[in-house]
Amino acid sequence: MKIFLDTANVDEIRQGVEWGLVDGVTTNPSLASKEKIADFSSLVRNILKVTPGPVSIEVVATDYNGMVQQAGKIAALGENAVVKIPMTLDGLKAIRTLKEKRIPVNCTLIFSPVQALFAAKSGAEYVSPFVGRLDDIGEDGMFIIEQIKTIFANYNISTKILVASIRNPVHVLRSAIIGADVVTMPFEVLKKLPSHPKTDEGLARFMDDWKKLFPTGDFPL
Ligand code: G3P
Repeated sequence: MKIFLDTANVDEIRQGVEWGLVDGVTTNPSLASKEKIADFSSLVRNILKVTPGPVSIEVVATDYNGMVQQAGKIAALGENAVVKIPMTLDGLKAIRTLKEKRIPVNCTLIFSPVQALFAAKSGAEYVSPFVGRLDDIGEDGMFIIEQIKTIFANYNISTKILVASIRNPVHVLRSAIIGADVVTMPFEVLKKLPSHPKTDEGLARFMDDWKKLFPTGDFPL
């Protein structure tokens, strides 16, 4: 399972890459707006440079012609640029056109398994179901990941399932058990994943015991 960071913050991406945990990045207009930058173009170019894999960048047009035009600009930024297109009828039409142009698309704002099926049939390389936002309205977001997985297996669909709107480590665990292709998460969730209180407790005990043997903390080899 690939791990993407859901951020437009270059420092977070750099840190995640240094830890060896980040395979790619997803951004959206809300994440970009948090960065309060004057130069969006430089921000995106920096993100593409520091990320070792695909970077999803979202169009902000909502009509077919506008989406295709903005997608062309995004794709021209680099080999690892992936165009994020919203799940609408115009979006599906744009995805078909971009597939013909061999421009990779991540279809975003997916909240049902049939939306994912339609995006895949249109030629999306990734579908992004928003699990956290489904949980927010009392549904089980992860259940649609299971359903999409089954549907894609039924029809041998190669579109990748990119679990988005991840809010906690359990979303990541369930994604891995289901066999999602990618999870994209905020930096705060990424940082929590390698931690366990018993790991911290165990390490503290090892260090204390070692100091009983060598009070100065020496390692005499
Ligand atoms: O990038 C799309 C998605 O991950 C947004 O997450 O937390 O705003 O629902 P969230």
